[in-house]
Amino acid sequence: MSSSGLSAVVVLAAGVGSRMASSTPKVLHEIGGRSLLGHVLAAAAPLQAAQHLVVVGAGRQSVVEHLATIAPDAETVVQAEQLGSGHATRLALQRVAGPGPVLILNGDVPLLTPDTLSQLVGTHSSSQAMLTVLTARVKDAHGLGRIIRDSGGALVGIVEDSDADPDQLAIDEVNAGAYVADGPALASALDRLGTSNAQGELYLTDAVGLFVSDGRTVSAYIAQDPEDVFGCNDRIELAARGRTLNDRVLRRHMAAGVTIVDPATTWIDVDVRVGRDATLLPGTQLHGSTSVAESAVLGPDTTLTDCVVGAGASVVRTHGSGAEIGPGASVGPFTYLRPGTRLGTATKAGAFVEIKNAEVGEGSKVPHLSYVGDATIGEHTNIGAATVFVNYDGVAKHHTRIGNHARTGADNMFIAPVTVGDGAYTAAGSVITEDVPPGAMGVSRAPQRNIAGWVRLRRPGTPAAEAARAVEEFSREPSGGDQTNSAPSGQEQA
Ligand code: UD1
Ligand code: MG
Repeated sequence: MSSSGLSAVVVLAAGVGSRMASSTPKVLHEIGGRSLLGHVLAAAAPLQAAQHLVVVGAGRQSVVEHLATIAPDAETVVQAEQLGSGHATRLALQRVAGPGPVLILNGDVPLLTPDTLSQLVGTHSSSQAMLTVLTARVKDAHGLGRIIRDSGGALVGIVEDSDADPDQLAIDEVNAGAYVADGPALASALDRLGTSNAQGELYLTDAVGLFVSDGRTVSAYIAQDPEDVFGCNDRIELAARGRTLNDRVLRRHMAAGVTIVDPATTWIDVDVRVGRDATLLPGTQLHGSTSVAESAVLGPDTTLTDCVVGAGASVVRTHGSGAEIGPGASVGPFTYLRPGTRLGTATKAGAFVEIKNAEVGEGSKVPHLSYVGDATIGEHTNIGAATVFVNYDGVAKHHTRIGNHARTGADNMFIAPVTVGDGAYTAAGSVITEDVPPGAMGVSRAPQRNIAGWVRLRRPGTPAAEAARAVEEFSREPSGGDQTNSAPSGQEQA
């Protein structure tokens, strides 16, 4: 048997979630880079229950597909019609194999922590109850089921917000939507549920009253942090839960030695790793599986998704996804790193540079205004400003190779597939269509031709013609020009 002794965790995730006003099922909405359902399953995972059952219904195809990626061992239970949380639980209980207690969780309570759930399970076993409810004392109980206790303080029932009278509405202890129960006892209570309530549904919460009238022991565990239990029924609550989660994540990183200059504008997904002494400047967002090594400085205004940042790197005003940034690299400002970018140690990707599916070797630089797509750049090479790696012929993508210690000129076009050898140079303004051997200078541009007097002839009377004439007169004037200097310069021939 598992460490908690639970036979199963049941997650109720079949509800329509109409208050979300969304074509995405409620439990698939995300905060902190993880679905609401994913958060609930993650909170329960350390309890190591023998079975994980997820009740699916509304939008079930997408929920089932999502589960296959985040929790392939979870079993799904189909609730074809959403008749209420009591009905959903009843269906799931039919699938529980073991005799131990069952933990039932609403799928829309994403801030539950493993610690709170293990306290709930512990209270259930120590009080030898048949049903234990997670509750919390909150400032604003609006929309939540109220906990009814008798004069001795014992839990006697739960009343839904929409069914509560004014006295009950004043109660500040609420139902979190997390319960531990003896499976068969709960199943028999659920079989007796009725639908005479404001929503005409089979309420799981009515089981509490039935247990009490049956004389079975019920207990409650009050969560230490009321934030843990808040649900997520609409977009306003989604934003509020997301903010709370983010605050928790930021505090965890700060406690571990990360400087976060402005927590209000810094967003970090739950699975992101950040090393000690890293600094996150205002407007930094780290998503997905991003990891940041120690002493890196990110931001201001940098968004990285699934990126790896090496120690001591600096990443300023950059948008990156699926990119690796090596130790000590300098990126930005205004840099776009797309999937497959690998910047080596001490590299530079500067202003208005876009890189995709390309490796930039140690010490190499792409400093200004360039597009590098499908390329391998060697070590200690410099790419001139305003270079385009022309990778796409309209049908297929092709690769460009630039060697080590190369110096490519400004405003080059590398028409892939093409190779520039080690130690080679290319001339500014060149369109490189053929390989440049190691150590060679690749030049491809028409020789320059100056047509003397063109402006005077073809653009007479313009400010340009006037300006040119003034210079010509000045250099012809014996008293105005410096004869000794102008003669050897060859200006008179122009
Ligand atoms: C529920 C509780 C309420 C509690 C609150 C905590 C009930 C009757 N009420 O209210 O006491 O304070 O959660 O957040 O349970 N579901 C199904 N099938 C259904 C109906 C619902 O699987 O037929 C699932 C939903 O997907 C959801 C959960 O059950 O995950 C609760 O349903 P929801 O509509 O969110 O109930 P609340 O009004 O939030
Ligand atoms: Mg809810």
